[in-house]
Amino acid sequence: MTDRHDAQAEHDAEGQAQFDALIDADSRIEPRDWMPAAYRKTLLRQISQHAHSEIIGMQPEANWITRAPSLKRKSILIAKVQDEAGHGLYLYSAAETLGQSRHEMMDDLLAGKAKYSSIFNYPARTWADMGAIGWLVDGAAICNQVPLCRASYGPYGRAMVRICKEESFHQRQGFEILLELANGTPEQRQMAQDAVNRWYAPALMMFGPPDDESPNSQQSMAWKIKRFSNDELRQRFLGMMVEQVTVLGLELPDKDIRFNEETGKWEHGPLDWAEFWRVIGGSGPCNAQRMERRRDAHAEGAWVREAAAAYAAKQAARAAEKEKAA
Ligand SMILES: [Fe+2]
Ligand SMILES: [Fe+2]
Repeated sequence: MTDRHDAQAEHDAEGQAQFDALIDADSRIEPRDWMPAAYRKTLLRQISQHAHSEIIGMQPEANWITRAPSLKRKSILIAKVQDEAGHGLYLYSAAETLGQSRHEMMDDLLAGKAKYSSIFNYPARTWADMGAIGWLVDGAAICNQVPLCRASYGPYGRAMVRICKEESFHQRQGFEILLELANGTPEQRQMAQDAVNRWYAPALMMFGPPDDESPNSQQSMAWKIKRFSNDELRQRFLGMMVEQVTVLGLELPDKDIRFNEETGKWEHGPLDWAEFWRVIGGSGPCNAQRMERRRDAHAEGAWVREAAAAYAAKQAARAAEKEKAA
């Protein structure tokens, strides 16, 4: 018993030393490498939450596919929503390498045990929201995700490289919708401004609570999962938006935005963190609707999963028969 204990302790100490060396060298941790249990748990939570966000995030935009104002807009929006499904799949696959099945992750989401980004609990009220979501929400996602391409966990970083390429297309299509509306009739212009007004603050809050209220951030940065703090990313995003909004000829609904020459950082007005926590806690405008739709879609897709499993079993049986005959 003691021997086995000692052997395990020695194995862990060796593993930890190797892990630390890889992190120090800015190298990558791969699925078969030893990793601390807390590192695995943190990643599993982060990547699965990220995957759930991609899948739930399809809903506000999918609602507008049938109402898109032209065939061109419809096909662009379909492509964008399909991309988000693909992002979910890459991320579930990356999370599975940490030892939890996609099935279990999905069960946790459907049971309300797993979280997803609070931004997707807001409604998309007008066509201009497709522009504001692409510009602000996908824009914030890019700021958050570009540094994740260098995350210390290999499968996560590699998934993010592919995702980021598609996110830049998403942001540009949103920007272009807003640009067209901003140069349209006074009503269209107003619709674009209203959408920006509604999505601005929730998009800033996508980076998570302020640094002094985000206790897990520091550990994630030490493990090189995260490369920048929530506030750093938020400021970087704000700086980009301030520049781009002038091209749109619209305004950001925040009179306190300013560039602080001393700190070299962008500053914004107060954000309603009580609302943020309320929405995360399940009381946002669309939480119940999003979960209900997800549960329905899961139930409606049961026959597809069954058919795919039956086909895979048939293929495997055929392959085994062939091998026997050879
Ligand atoms: Fe995405
Ligand atoms: Fe996206």
